[in-house]
Amino acid sequence: MENRRPFKQFTPAEHRIWKMLWDRQIGNCRDRACKLWLDGLDKLDMTADRIPDFSVMNERFKELVGWELVSTDVIFSDGQTWFEHLARRQFLITEYIREEKDLLYTPLPDIWHDTFGHLPLMTDPRYADYIQHFAHVALRYTPEERKSLGSLWWYTIEFGFMVEDGDMKAFGAGLMSSPGEMEHAYSDAVNKTSFSLDAFEKISPSPHTMHNTLFILDSMEQLEGSAEAWAERHPQMA
Ligand SMILES: [Fe+2]
Repeated sequence: MENRRPFKQFTPAEHRIWKMLWDRQIGNCRDRACKLWLDGLDKLDMTADRIPDFSVMNERFKELVGWELVSTDVIFSDGQTWFEHLARRQFLITEYIREEKDLLYTPLPDIWHDTFGHLPLMTDPRYADYIQHFAHVALRYTPEERKSLGSLWWYTIEFGFMVEDGDMKAFGAGLMSSPGEMEHAYSDAVNKTSFSLDAFEKISPSPHTMHNTLFILDSMEQLEGSAEAWAERHPQMA
């Protein structure tokens, strides 16, 4: 059996940052998040007072969706490493947590973002399968060729909205984990428009500035078809 890096034991100061983030954001998410995320949060027994025990959560993911959580000390894994893990149904868990001065927003995906933002969604088998599928599509291309596939990820998985029972709900992990992004995304400063591959490819997203335009997916089916639809428009060069 493969030797796995043990999950980090977090310090009281790190648990305290988690709690500050939780207290600040849980109400926003209860009001605005899609049902998929809210149901996932319930399945994971996450609490306000501490960063979860990932060895317990790892077992839960194996049962729920057949995915593993894998510890890494890399703060920001490069795309290739990230996609190779996702393609094997392995979700990398960084050990880094933002500092108190970056509570509202950090461009680096930290353990708060990965855990609170992504993991509730990853408890859904259809969603988890799509993430693996996305990685398989990504790995057919070189990093240069798949740049705008990264934008697809950005505008759906990270910052997308989805229509649910006629309402627009927050769907992206980056919205869930960032009080600043969530508030900004719902303000009039951001144009919310129906998702289309045509539209998002014209925009260059930046992790360092807030968005002007965000996209609304009409359904899970639209999300599931989007990576393959992107691939059809981007024939491989080799
Ligand atoms: Fe993310």
